[in-house]
Amino acid sequence: MGMWWLFPVCCNFLLFHFSFSHSFCHPHDNLALLHFKASLTINTMYSSYHCHQVYPTIATWENGTDCCSWSGVTCHPISGHVTAIDLTCGGLQGQINANSTLFSLSHMQSLNLAFNDFSNSQIPSPIGEFVNLTHLNLSFSNFQGEIPPQISHLSKLQSLDLSLQQLKWKEGTWKKMLQNATELRVLVLNYTDLSSTSMRSLNLSSSLITLSLGGIGLKGKLTNAILCLPNLQYLDLSGNFELHGQLPSLRCSSASLNVLQISGCAFQGPIPPSFSNLTSLTLLDLSYNSLNGSIPSSLLTLPRLNVLLLCYNHLSGQIPNVFHQSNRFEKLDLNCNNIQGFSNLALLSLTDNMLNGTIPSWCFSLPSLLYLSLSNNQFTGHIPAISSYSLQDLVLSDNKLQGNISESIFNLVNLTYLSLQLSLKFESSVNYSFSRLKKLDLSSLGLTEFPKLSKVPVLEILILSNNKLNGKVPNWLTTPVDQFSRNYQLRKLDLSYNLLTGGISSSICNASSLEILVLSNNKLTGTIPQCLASSSSLFILNLEMNRLNGTLPNTFSKYSLQSLNLNDNRLEGPLPQSLSNCMRLKILNLGNNQIEDTFPHWLRTLPFLKVLVLRANKLHGPIVIFKTEHGLPSLIIFDISSNNFSGPIPEDYMQNFEAIRILFKMSFAVYYSPMTVTTKGTSVPFKKIPTNFLSIDLSGNKFEGEIPNAKMMLKGQIKVVALQG
Ligand SMILES: *[C@@H]1O[C@H](CO)[C@@H](O)[C@H](O)[C@H]1NC(C)=O
Ligand SMILES: *[C@@H]1O[C@H](CO)[C@@H](O)[C@H](O)[C@H]1NC(C)=O
Ligand SMILES: *[C@@H]1O[C@H](CO)[C@@H](O)[C@H](O)[C@H]1NC(C)=O
Ligand SMILES: *[C@@H]1O[C@H](CO)[C@@H](O)[C@H](O)[C@H]1NC(C)=O
Ligand SMILES: *[C@@H]1O[C@H](CO)[C@@H](O)[C@H](O)[C@H]1NC(C)=O
Ligand SMILES: *[C@@H]1O[C@H](CO)[C@@H](O)[C@H](O)[C@H]1NC(C)=O
Ligand SMILES: *[C@@H]1O[C@H](CO)[C@@H](O)[C@H](O)[C@H]1NC(C)=O
Ligand SMILES: *[C@@H]1O[C@H](CO)[C@@H](O)[C@H](O)[C@H]1NC(C)=O
Ligand SMILES: *[C@@H]1O[C@H](CO)[C@@H](O)[C@H](O)[C@H]1NC(C)=O
Ligand SMILES: *[C@@H]1O[C@H](CO)[C@@H](O)[C@H](O)[C@H]1NC(C)=O
Ligand SMILES: *[C@@H]1O[C@H](CO)[C@@H](O)[C@H](O)[C@H]1NC(C)=O
Ligand SMILES: *[C@@H]1O[C@H](CO)[C@@H](O)[C@H](O)[C@H]1NC(C)=O
Repeated sequence: MGMWWLFPVCCNFLLFHFSFSHSFCHPHDNLALLHFKASLTINTMYSSYHCHQVYPTIATWENGTDCCSWSGVTCHPISGHVTAIDLTCGGLQGQINANSTLFSLSHMQSLNLAFNDFSNSQIPSPIGEFVNLTHLNLSFSNFQGEIPPQISHLSKLQSLDLSLQQLKWKEGTWKKMLQNATELRVLVLNYTDLSSTSMRSLNLSSSLITLSLGGIGLKGKLTNAILCLPNLQYLDLSGNFELHGQLPSLRCSSASLNVLQISGCAFQGPIPPSFSNLTSLTLLDLSYNSLNGSIPSSLLTLPRLNVLLLCYNHLSGQIPNVFHQSNRFEKLDLNCNNIQGFSNLALLSLTDNMLNGTIPSWCFSLPSLLYLSLSNNQFTGHIPAISSYSLQDLVLSDNKLQGNISESIFNLVNLTYLSLQLSLKFESSVNYSFSRLKKLDLSSLGLTEFPKLSKVPVLEILILSNNKLNGKVPNWLTTPVDQFSRNYQLRKLDLSYNLLTGGISSSICNASSLEILVLSNNKLTGTIPQCLASSSSLFILNLEMNRLNGTLPNTFSKYSLQSLNLNDNRLEGPLPQSLSNCMRLKILNLGNNQIEDTFPHWLRTLPFLKVLVLRANKLHGPIVIFKTEHGLPSLIIFDISSNNFSGPIPEDYMQNFEAIRILFKMSFAVYYSPMTVTTKGTSVPFKKIPTNFLSIDLSGNKFEGEIPNAKMMLKGQIKVVALQG
């Protein structure tokens, strides 16, 4: 007795769950969205200013299909009403009028139309009808004019982003909005116009976590209250040049602020010592004010602070000698202040600023400096003589420096890392000896000759990419001949983007510690040495865009290989089955060769394979369907386009994509090389492939039968599908 009732309850639950998890769009909402779509056009130009990639998702919304399956649309699981729309970077153009059917979607909770072009129109006042809206994001969407007072009806807002457009707040609207929206956690109003309001009338909700009020024309004095908001982590008040007076002394014992940006205002006087009560700070930017006095040493000992920007103030005095205690500062920018006392500075990194002019000579004469990075600035001129003999790491890349490299660089006996950059002349004839240099980056220097590395006995990383090196890859590069060979431990060799010719000698395998070998974008010919395939150290092998020919080695062993890119060569013959040994393989790109084989179904044993590109070869036959096992569970890019495959569309390979959204039937093709994903027309450089990026390209084959049905594909978060022939 007792348990019988559990059974039907449990089954009801399952049934309920099953039948509603794929609910259909409410017909009213379906129609409203189609009308909304029809009221706009697609023009990707505006979106592409700020977006890595434009996703014209709205183009895929089709009459006759279920709107809950459309990309960018989220529905209530039971009622099928639309609750969220995300058309960020959607390439939309046009106006949303007050009579737009968008506003009949009364269940809307989250609306994101950021980075579209609403053509200088006003935000329509019916926006206030979305009373259940919790998230509204209209950032950089080319709205203009006064913000409608109805915005204050949105009392449930948790995040509001209207940044980066010429929108104007009336003081009354602003105040009512703050009064009503008591749950606001994120408020981003960058570069809207709030000049009608003074600092004093900012009665901000204590629930705020992010507050971005940069460049909004705020006036008055900064109050203690705003810095002490109990939950605030991010505060940006930069570029409000009518904010003036002294920085307030904190009257809270601690504050939750992680990021405080108040650069480009008109603050005067000292940095209050009480700022050291901001113990969670990681970034403090007080640059471009008129602060004077000395830098409180307590500021430099804030435990998490790693970016401190104080440049362009009138600070003076000695820098507290606390730097040697830690290496944690990523950015420390004290430029243009009257500061001395760097004598103990061990680390100076001004990376990634916009610093220009010539490099001040004091940077190169700090007696205790171990690490100096000035990369990614706009420095011009010559490198002055270097008298910081203790330097171990010197990174000057990505500037606009010119001329010969100062010979004094060769006196840096302890140098272990040297990274230089474009348009500097590196005289390889100079008699130098870097006995400790481990990493040498001489990319983009216009080198025509290989530097003489016998003087660099312990080199581990050598980057000579993007030069004008020609001829063969010299043997001595990987097989040093003299007394140093015992120490020579090359782990990474990058000679990409040069003019190298000839074959790859198997002597390259003498570099037995080699982990990364990049010889892409040269003019190399001949075959790929077998020993590279069987190497037990190599984990990245990139030989793409050369003229390599012959068959692929079939000696791949189970060791380290994680990425193999042989794209765009002249390789022929069959696919090497031994690739199925490479259990760690993540990226396999054999596209644009002349490989002749059937589909490599044996690859499905590879658990981590993310990218499989076999496009533009001579592969043929039907694709084996396997019902029993899960094939390629990690795959996110599957490109077998432009081959001779036939038979039914290999649905199995798509079914295994684990995720949520689809962008279905996009008609452009996508192919992959390590750094770029190129769609027809646009090339998108990805530093890393985003984890939510999925691409399937089956175009240019002879598949027969039906396009796999949308329901099945619903499982996948597929961003790009190309099925067109
Ligand atoms: C959708 O398709 C139906 C039937 O084909 C048609 O009657 C209706 O007008 C279409 N709706 C829109 C908004 O195009
Ligand atoms: C919606 O409003 C716009 C401008 O206010 C007008 O041109 C258009 O005809 C209206 N559309 C409908 C369907 O009423
Ligand atoms: C708004 O939310 C409330 C409370 O959750 C709910 O009762 C009401 O039906 C919602 N209104 C709409 C139009 O969805
Ligand atoms: C505050 O929000 C409620 C609910 O949306 C609304 O009825 C009221 O008019 C709003 N008050 C103001 C001042 O906008
Ligand atoms: C608004 O959307 C843009 C684009 O997706 C995004 O970068 C931004 O962080 C969003 N704003 C908020 C407050 O989430
Ligand atoms: C504010 O605007 C600037 C653009 O000038 C942007 O870099 C920043 O990320 C924006 N957002 C926030 C939250 O500050
Ligand atoms: C500030 O807001 C709080 C809560 O929203 C309210 O109780 C208080 O009266 C407001 N103060 C001023 C000066 O408007
Ligand atoms: C930090 O806050 C506490 C509590 O208000 C205060 O006593 C102390 O003086 C503050 N520290 C500084 C350096 O002002
Ligand atoms: C800082 O500047 C103010 C005037 O703006 C001046 O009165 C004060 O003496 C200066 N303090 C220091 C330490 O230079
Ligand atoms: C440095 O940049 C600033 C701001 O962009 C500019 O005003 C200044 O002229 C530049 N100085 C040099 C030496 O290029
Ligand atoms: C180089 O490093 C050694 C110890 O690693 C040290 O004794 C020597 O002083 C350093 N040379 C210079 C010029 O700093
Ligand atoms: C590879 O190309 C070279 C010329 O670059 C040619 O001599 C050789 O025969 C080719 N080898 C094969 C296997 O096609």
